[in-house]
Amino acid sequence: MAAKRPLNVVKISKMKQQKDRLTMITAYDYPSAKLAEEAGIDIILVGDSLGNVVLGYNSTIPVTLDDMVYHTRATARGAENTFIVADMPFMTYHGSLDETLKGVRRLMQEGHAHAVKMEGGIEIAPAVKAIVQSGVPVLGHIGLTPQSVNTIGGYRVQGKDAADAKRLMDEAKALEAAGAFAVVLELVAEETAAAITRELSIPTIGIGAGRECDGQVLVFHDVVKYASPYMEKRFVKTFADVGAQIREGIEAYVNEVKNGAFPAENHVFKADEGVSESLDSLYGGSKAGQENLQKQETASDKEKVGAQG
Ligand code: KIV
Repeated sequence: MAAKRPLNVVKISKMKQQKDRLTMITAYDYPSAKLAEEAGIDIILVGDSLGNVVLGYNSTIPVTLDDMVYHTRATARGAENTFIVADMPFMTYHGSLDETLKGVRRLMQEGHAHAVKMEGGIEIAPAVKAIVQSGVPVLGHIGLTPQSVNTIGGYRVQGKDAADAKRLMDEAKALEAAGAFAVVLELVAEETAAAITRELSIPTIGIGAGRECDGQVLVFHDVVKYASPYMEKRFVKTFADVGAQIREGIEAYVNEVKNGAFPAENHVFKADEGVSESLDSLYGGSKAGQENLQKQETASDKEKVGAQG
């Protein structure tokens, strides 16, 4: 079977017109990317959520450009036939345009991403425009933007009242005008997300933004319950519980090593006949060897006594 070809921004745009829903999932390394690709995902996002689910931080703010490049490169190796978007991490696109473009260059050249994602609306539109003009597709991200969690005042649903809904609509339109190829809507009231989806010609990709978006995105660790810190969130659906399976597997391994069941006969490599005796005759006579032999003999004597008693 011929390998599938990665999507591109032209095909992604057509998918909206054809009402073909986009599927996006995060991945952060070779195995998660490989599994996502094998499962037929449209887009892989190397999200800075890796700060939470892979690196164990309690926000995305500590994630660096080096972290993103490293994880994007590993992800790209695992999914050579999938469209890969990499997150621009905290404060890497709010300084000079030169600095912003250097970050983009690293994600594309070193990380092998096909596009970058940036959080924010009107205030980042000039940077989005410059990046798109330099030939790099940009995915916008509005609504709950985790990099600004300290100014938003926590992880709250956005666009619930008319004023906030209009603010989000304006942000979305600014991103579209700047040339973004799609926009992620995170934790947005369903009606607001639906209106933005109707209004924009580019696709919306929702996470906690209701049923009317042109596509959906979820975090890999949430989808398969892989030790995710986000499990209790209402917008997350768990489609498999690999965390439990992994834990059970490791417990079984620990038990079998402790009780001697692993490694078994079929897991070992045998030396030539006589090697064991020749080593014993060479080293069994040394002081340490004799002490060991004595200990083994005492232990087996005790076992015999125990068995008799
Ligand atoms: O970093 C991330 O995983 C994201 C998604 C939640 C959209 O931005």
